[in-house]
Amino acid sequence: MRDFEYLPNDAVYLDAACQSLRPQPVIDALNDYYTKYNSCGERVKYEWGATTEQKVEQTREKVLKYVGLSKRRYFVSFTLNTTYGINLILSQINVKKAGIKAIVTSDIEHNSPFLSTMSCAKKNNLPRVVLTRGKDGSLPLDEIPNNALVVVNAASNIDGRLLVNIKDVIKKVHKTGGYIIIDAAQAMAHSVEVLHGVEPDAICFSAHKMYAPSLGGIIINKEFAKLIDTTFIGGGMVDDVNKDSYQLSKDNPEHIYTQFESGLQAWGEIIALGAAIDWLNNKSKNERKELEKLYTDLYEFLKTKEKIHVINNAPASTISVYVDKKETGVDSHILGAALADEGIMVRTGYFCVHYYLDHVKHYPPLLRFSLGYHNTVEDIEKVKKALENF
Ligand SMILES: Cc1ncc(COP(=O)(O)O)c(C=O)c1O
Repeated sequence: MRDFEYLPNDAVYLDAACQSLRPQPVIDALNDYYTKYNSCGERVKYEWGATTEQKVEQTREKVLKYVGLSKRRYFVSFTLNTTYGINLILSQINVKKAGIKAIVTSDIEHNSPFLSTMSCAKKNNLPRVVLTRGKDGSLPLDEIPNNALVVVNAASNIDGRLLVNIKDVIKKVHKTGGYIIIDAAQAMAHSVEVLHGVEPDAICFSAHKMYAPSLGGIIINKEFAKLIDTTFIGGGMVDDVNKDSYQLSKDNPEHIYTQFESGLQAWGEIIALGAAIDWLNNKSKNERKELEKLYTDLYEFLKTKEKIHVINNAPASTISVYVDKKETGVDSHILGAALADEGIMVRTGYFCVHYYLDHVKHYPPLLRFSLGYHNTVEDIEKVKKALENF
């Protein structure tokens, strides 16, 4: 497949929800940085540094445009990943200043928001509420408490379920004096539309799940950012330092993004994220349809298999299933290993959603197929053939 020509013919990669494969233009952008202008952004006066600075700034703008938010009200900081971004916010937020009275999350969250909301509630001695998402992914509006800090995903890493009532959720949270952080780890690559036309207080995402190198990002409302103290601090964040005091660079509107960027940043990876966004923006309607056709075909095939229990209510680029050991003699781990022997790379286990999958649903370990633009009709045929006699 064009842009993934480096892939061996017999490799069927179906773990894109963990990290996407990187298309050639993204790899080229990263290579260009390392081989043509390897340099620090912001700090240096030589030409390579000016190129880095300009391209990094362009990436911040591309990220905002990609999610449909304005530079006037939001800024973008880069981090390690979604987990790091959510933790940076939750560990530093001044709940008193923000008037937050409860921390809210949902049952289907990845451990990333699930655990960080636990530690935020504990640290601030606040109640933590775990709401039950509907089968369609919606949050029950009536159960959102007043003055809540809500942290929920826009798309699930189990079955691609979307936060279908995101508009109403944000409206309700804001109307009742609260704030909302969206975990967009799974939404950015294939479901970014769910984020369009809404203004959450922050969005955290992982570039490595959207065809870019390993990197994270925080997109944050400027007013909300003022409620977050700066305690995780170091180089790159200050304009002046005295023996016992310092002047934060973020106080200069031009450098507001430094609030969450301590130390040297992954400049090449940031620039290559810009290339990944260009690449995603250039996906034609046809290419999107092709991907949809592939995962719908796989979903429909899996539904025909009596001994394969599909979790999804609807087709999505992420499809989870389980097999019952009593019924089949094998569990998902064994089935996953058998598929691996055929060159088919899937994920098995609980995908960091232990609470919901293990303790709410009591499912045995699952097996997850997650597709991306690198996949082909032949890949899906190979999966069908491998599972033919199951
Ligand atoms: C919905 C969701 N949230 C958060 C994360 C955490 O992402 P990362 O490990 O990149 O921090 C993941 C990772 O799979 C995810 O799927």
